[in-house]
Amino acid sequence: MTENTKAFDSWLRTRFVEINSELEKLYWQQDDKANVEGVGEHLKRQLEQEGNEHIRALLAEGNTDEGFDNAFDLLGNVGLYMAACRRHEITEPSRETSSPLVEASALAMHIGASIGVTPRFATAHLTTHNKAVDGLYKRFTDLEDEKIFVDYNTKGILAYKRAADALLKIQPLGISHPITADLLAVAKQALLDVIESNNTLYNKLDTDRFFYCVRPYYKPYRVGKEVYRGANAGDFAGINVIDLLLGLCFANEPSYSQMLVDKFLYMMPEDQQILRESMRMTSIMDDFLAAEAERDSEWLQTNLKLFIQVCKLHGDTAIGHHNQLVSKYIAQPSQQMQQQHMDKVTASGPPLHVLLNSLEQLRDRRAAAKRDDIRTRFDDLTKLKQWIK
Ligand code: HEM
Repeated sequence: MTENTKAFDSWLRTRFVEINSELEKLYWQQDDKANVEGVGEHLKRQLEQEGNEHIRALLAEGNTDEGFDNAFDLLGNVGLYMAACRRHEITEPSRETSSPLVEASALAMHIGASIGVTPRFATAHLTTHNKAVDGLYKRFTDLEDEKIFVDYNTKGILAYKRAADALLKIQPLGISHPITADLLAVAKQALLDVIESNNTLYNKLDTDRFFYCVRPYYKPYRVGKEVYRGANAGDFAGINVIDLLLGLCFANEPSYSQMLVDKFLYMMPEDQQILRESMRMTSIMDDFLAAEAERDSEWLQTNLKLFIQVCKLHGDTAIGHHNQLVSKYIAQPSQQMQQQHMDKVTASGPPLHVLLNSLEQLRDRRAAAKRDDIRTRFDDLTKLKQWIK
């Protein structure tokens, strides 16, 4: 880490958090909590100028080769600054054709392109790759609800990754291997952990605090000329590795492969690699279906029972995400939001009903629900369940 990088990191962990938290207090006091216009203007100027001074020094220094980890970390720091500027509407993608944060954009594009990721902050920067110093990891504000949100996103992501790792290890062993049962049991436990962690998040996180004070930092923003979509907890390979290896989703189906293509650069390079490999593998479900001749064998009875339970739990995590988290924290508060702000919310992302519809389709694929309009594994799973004695 260079001196300039250290100085910027330390500003981000202190002043940056203070200014954002101060601004959140001011917005929160208003009747219309979604308004940011004409509020705390001096604080917004401080944020922009102080951050920019650090960034100017870093840009002049050049992207000295300090290794992947440091480059990725610095990109995250620039990204947190740009996301905060967007949250406070110091920048606003629908108002501009190019980001007014010229130096920050240049630095972000330089680093992003050089390490093979999108030039904005991604979920990994705040969750799985967010170094804590003295027990505190990087955050936008000091709000308790932001910490709850990030803590349980991190827990959920790590649990999904444990399930994905276990399923990947089945590939070279095959479905009839005795140790495959152990790996399916690990995947089962990991998915139960996702459910438990999401339930806790659902019970702990305050809806208004999340909607008005946390989520706005995750909006799309411009880097240079392009608008990059917001970060979301799904930007890691594990969730799709599980979809594909269980056989619940298909990499050759247009809407699913579109989602994969769109998310590649939002993931860490190692995750990009894992996902590419998983897209070429045959699914465990197809392996079981092909083993019909051995349906009465002991190994099949043991391993298939576990496999069906893993599928059920993966579906349950998706049902919980959609029917609890998305519904309580996005869909319901959006309906109540004043129309003037709704226009802004949807200006640079897809309209809410389009987003909800695509998440609903994902939920139903993962749950192998019976649907006539999209391909799900309802019939295949029903058939496999009938094999169990
Ligand atoms: C995606 C909402 C927490 C996993 C999304 C999207 C929304 C959303 C709206 C779609 C983003 C887009 O396409 O623009 C929420 C809310 C949460 C929450 C409101 C909590 C308050 C979590 C947690 C996890 C998670 C804890 C667990 C790791 C995912 C995944 C995706 C996603 C995997 C990508 C789409 C998919 O493959 O299902 N979330 N989420 N989310 N979220 Fe969450």
